[in-house]
Parts: sequence; C-alpha cells; structure tokens
Amino acid sequence: MENNFGIYIHIPFCARKCNYCDFISFYNKDNLIEEYMNCLKKEIDNFDFSKKIVTTIYIGGGTPSYINEKYIVEILNLLKEKLKNNKIKWQDIEITIEVNPGTVNKEKLEEYKKIGINRLSIGLQTTKDELLKEIGRIHTYQEFLETYNEARKQGFKNINVDLMIALPSQKIEDIKESLEEIIKLSPEHISVYSLIIEEGTVFYKLLEENKIELPSDEVERNMYWYVKDFLELNGYNHYEISNFSKKQKESKHNLNCWNQEEYIGFGINAHSYIDKIRFCNIDNLEEYIKNIKEGNFEKNRTIEERQTKEDEEKEFMMLGFRKIEGVDISKFKEKFCENPLYLFRKELNKLVEEGLIEVDLNNIKLTNKGLDLANIVFEEFV
Ligand SMILES: C[S@@+](CC[C@H](N)C(=O)[O-])C[C@H]1O[C@@H](n2cnc3c(N)ncnc32)[C@H](O)[C@@H]1O
Ligand code: SF4
Repeated sequence: MENNFGIYIHIPFCARKCNYCDFISFYNKDNLIEEYMNCLKKEIDNFDFSKKIVTTIYIGGGTPSYINEKYIVEILNLLKEKLKNNKIKWQDIEITIEVNPGTVNKEKLEEYKKIGINRLSIGLQTTKDELLKEIGRIHTYQEFLETYNEARKQGFKNINVDLMIALPSQKIEDIKESLEEIIKLSPEHISVYSLIIEEGTVFYKLLEENKIELPSDEVERNMYWYVKDFLELNGYNHYEISNFSKKQKESKHNLNCWNQEEYIGFGINAHSYIDKIRFCNIDNLEEYIKNIKEGNFEKNRTIEERQTKEDEEKEFMMLGFRKIEGVDISKFKEKFCENPLYLFRKELNKLVEEGLIEVDLNNIKLTNKGLDLANIVFEEFV
C-alpha cells in the first residue's frame, strides 16, 4: 500500500502574542528570522524524500505571513527541487499557508500564488472588533475582509477561516453574528475551536486573578451545538470535531494525520511521525539554530514514542474517533490484520453501553453524547 506523506514547516514569529496563545511563537525575535529561515532550508535539504509520496505541505505558525514573502518562496523553491521526482506533481500537492489579517498584502498573496500555494488558512477568531481587541489580536474584522477579498481576487479557491468560541464575555449572539457574516463569504472550510486556557498565557493569569469570566461548560456546549447545526444547515459537512468543509474541501493535511499517515515537521517544536516513531524538534529557537549550524540535526530531535503494534492500533482508534465518520473498520483490518470490534470488545462494549459511541456497518463513531464527552472515549485508547 502506498502512503501519503505530509510536510509541516513551523514559522515561529508573530507581530504580537495573543492573550490565549501558547503556541511556540515569538514577537520579539525578528532579528533571528533570517538565520532561522536559513536553518530551515538546511534541515529540509538534509531530509531524504526519495521514498516518500508527498501529498501535502503545511506552513504554520506562529504567523507565516508575518515574515517577508521571499523566505516562503525560497523554502518552497527548495522543496520543489527536492520533490522533482515525487509521484504527485507539484501543482497537485495541497500547499497551505496560515495567514493573519494585518500581515498580508496584495504582493505577498501574489508571490504565494505564483510559487504554488493553493490553500490559505486565515485566522479570524471572531467578527466582533471589541472581542478581537480583548483577545489581543492585531486586526479588525474590516482588515480580515480586505485580506479575504484580496485572496479571492488573486484566485485562491480554497480558503479556511479559523473561529473561536467560549471566549471571555462572548455571547451566543456574537457567535451567531460571526457565523452569519462568514457564510456570506462562502469559504470552503471553517475551523471552530473552543478556547482552552493554557498555562503561561495572559488569559491564564487574568483568570487566576478573577479578571475575566468564562462561559460555563453548559454554555460552551450550547455554543458548539449552535455552530454545528448552523454550519450543517448552510451546506458545510462536519468532518472532524472542530472542522467543517464544503464537499471535497476537507484539509487533506489534517486528514492524513487523523488517518495515521506519516509526516515530517521542520523547524522548532515541529512534530513528526515516521516508521512508527513519533518525534519532536526542540522548542528553543537559539539552540535549534546552533545545532543546525553545527550540522547536528539529530540533536534537535527528541523521540516521544516508539510504537508497538498495540500502541499503533490504539492510536488508530483514538485518531479515528476525532473524525465524525469515525474509525473505518475495513481500513483497520487491512492495516493490522485484526478486527477492531473483537480486539477492543471490552472498551467498545463499555462505551456503547454509556451511549458514547455507536457501531454501523463499517464504522465505529461518536454519538452526539460522545461528541460532548470525546475525552472519555479517547481515554480508553491511551
Ligand atoms: C496554530 S494557531 C496559529 C494560526 C495563526 N497564527 C492565527 O493566529 O490565526 C491556529 C488556530 O488555533 C486556534 N487556537 C490557538 N490557541 C488556542 C487556544 N488556546 N484555545 C483554542 N484555540 C486556539 C486559533 O483559532 C488559531 O487560529
Ligand atoms: S494565535 Fe496566532 S498570531 Fe496569535 S500569538 Fe498565537 S500564533 Fe501568533
């Protein structure tokens, strides 16, 4: 069986730090951009793609659109050269870049298009300017609209918009308004994330000091179901817990990850999965640069897991449950030569009795109750 192979490239620079964000990204290290990008090129050049069939490239961050577009073009030119014998033609690879309003202009988008980027993921979060300010975004809704419209003008036909729910002081009416505004634009893909308060963020501190108030769990769930119903009624297919898309516009890159396919991550804190080994690059920018400059690529990597067959099977289940269509029983059988219904009969019976999952002809998937309590399902397969 031939497998899809994904490439992730991490750009850890932002204009400022949003109040909720704990992704590895810096707003005060612009002086290292040039050196970092040179190291990224070395790391990519050092990787042997000859036996891989690359189907997706994802440039994420941080804010990839914050840095000069010449760096993105250089990275993609290098990959194009490295992948000249790839089974999939360059123009057929799904190439995504995350872009933030307030950091892109016509010229940047033109360059992205020219080099072959064919999918944009725009971080909006909410259409309400007061909320955007409260969560520490640098842009207004108007600026998002300018970015979106310019992207369409440049011919981008596959656009994702990121939204967030359960933000401090966000009301269900705000979400309704955001969704109504967004579907008018008809993006191909919409991701909707519930706010997670992460340690070390501004919001974590404000919450500890009782300076912000979050919606209750019940309100958060109401928001989630409102989003799901609204988007489904408007022609979007709910295909993963937090992701909705028009027909055939699912994110191939993310689907590959949920289907337990292999990928390589380049840059700090980038994760990889190859030969049943999960590993991760260090998250210290200066150390990453130092190691690459010394040609010490391995020193940047930490092995997180060497999977046994059992680990791999459990993980296949857990990742499968993230998809709304659930775990594909025949794919499981094909991959592991075992029947998941028999192998995990104890766990599955318990979850069915609790009303969290259901089994149909070829799939095992979350019920509506299971969607609300997905973590309980995942725990059975850790
Ligand atoms: C990798 S982030 C970076 C994308 C881009 N820099 C931006 O800000 O739009 C991708 C998305 O994750 C979501 N996100 C980030 N931090 C989050 C948090 N603490 N809780 C929930 N969603 C979060 C946001 O919707 C964000 O757009
Ligand atoms: S949410 Fe995006 S723009 Fe904001 S700090 Fe995180 S990575 Fe940067």
